[in-house]
Amino acid sequence: MARAKVDLRVFEDLEALSAAAARALVEAANEAIRRRGSFTLALSGGETSKGLYRRLASHHRRDVPWDAVHWFWSDERFVPEDHPDSNAGTSLAILSPLSLPSENLHIPVTHGVDASEAARRLEEELSRLFPLDMTLLGLGEDGHVASLFPGSPALEETTRLVVPVRDAPKPPPLRITMTLPAINASRSVHILVSGPAKREALSRALQETGPAIPAGLIRPEGGPVWWVDRAAWEPSGQRD
Ligand code: 6PG
Repeated sequence: MARAKVDLRVFEDLEALSAAAARALVEAANEAIRRRGSFTLALSGGETSKGLYRRLASHHRRDVPWDAVHWFWSDERFVPEDHPDSNAGTSLAILSPLSLPSENLHIPVTHGVDASEAARRLEEELSRLFPLDMTLLGLGEDGHVASLFPGSPALEETTRLVVPVRDAPKPPPLRITMTLPAINASRSVHILVSGPAKREALSRALQETGPAIPAGLIRPEGGPVWWVDRAAWEPSGQRD
């Protein structure tokens, strides 16, 4: 059977990638709000996606009724929100110019409960707004997405929407993450990839569909949209 066509968008650099992805997010948000009155979004952690968040907070402050957006995170490290490693803490600091209503921020609880209870609580919130309109992901050098790492038992989860991860190879080891069923149910999934360090993971993710490269298991209806910069994209046989 012919492999489905891959939606892969290549940009000169991370800045151009972030600007284009931000425009696409704004368009999707306004379309969802027009159709359903709200836009439900899971942000990626890590560094690659921060350029997109900065674009939203600066160039697009007036382009979306932001109080109609519900914010989740595709994974979270088990650190306090004010910790520099916190995905929610760092992304919300960037997005602060949007003055987002706190009741729409579905921030994972990472204190006063254990990771299992935190996952259960987030799953409860997510299930009320499920499926999400959009999930954003970054790509790890080992092919992980969210906190779904190569060979992790979390990859075999078929019913839970959020699970704890206690042995993440990327520090910190304790996290909670959306699962493949949760991510793949999203109306759209966008994976942002930047830099030469991601070349191999990207190339393998586009060819493999096993647990060794979790990004290859991201298969929402219609497939994910890959946003990559030239440094991460190396067509086979073509060298710089
Ligand atoms: C996390 C992220 C993780 C990240 C990738 C890419 O919490 O660590 O969710 O999945 O998106 O590791 O990270 P960079 O964008 O920093 O390379």
